[in-house]
Amino acid sequence: MADDDAIGDILVPAQELERRVSELAREISRDYEGRDLVLIGVLKGAVFFLSDLMRQLDVPVEVDFMAVASYGSATKSSGVVRILKDLDAVIEGRDVLIVEDIVDSGLTLQYLLRNLAGRNPRSLEVCALLIKPERRKVDLRTRYVGFEIPNRFAIGYGLDYGERYRNLSYVAALKQ
Ligand code: IMP
Ligand code: MG
Repeated sequence: MADDDAIGDILVPAQELERRVSELAREISRDYEGRDLVLIGVLKGAVFFLSDLMRQLDVPVEVDFMAVASYGSATKSSGVVRILKDLDAVIEGRDVLIVEDIVDSGLTLQYLLRNLAGRNPRSLEVCALLIKPERRKVDLRTRYVGFEIPNRFAIGYGLDYGERYRNLSYVAALKQ
């Protein structure tokens, strides 16, 4: 895997990921003390980040998942989103935190936020490991952000290219 020629520059090394995930967990634990926190992981990319983050939270917390497909090419989303797997949990009146691997154009997240807001949670916020500010097309509030990265296609730590490279312990740019 390490000599795979699709793996380009390292964007975020494993140690930096670890350090930042701990910081985010401390912030979230502080902000959600005494609340009714439900993390919603967006499959599949967010699973790796979510499981590391969740293990470091020291407030009561539940987890649920959604799977969405955004119509588009392998490296660009169109904003037209289809729900492949919906939540098991009812989120009405609860404190919902969406956990995403990456916010690129923001179109997928915009759809999710609108959809979940319609279910009347008590609060609804976003925690994204990575954002690409240069590519943002819609104005969204991302309350917790791990890292801002340049406009490169990222792989690793959950992020895939054609379903591969999710298992890298760091985030790298795809060499293309
Ligand atoms: P958006 O709708 O353009 O914000 O794209 C959101 C989704 O596209 C993310 O949840 C990822 O699944 C995927 N995506 C966007 N950029 C990247 C990237 O650089 N690497 C891997 N997946 C990406
Ligand atoms: Mg995704």
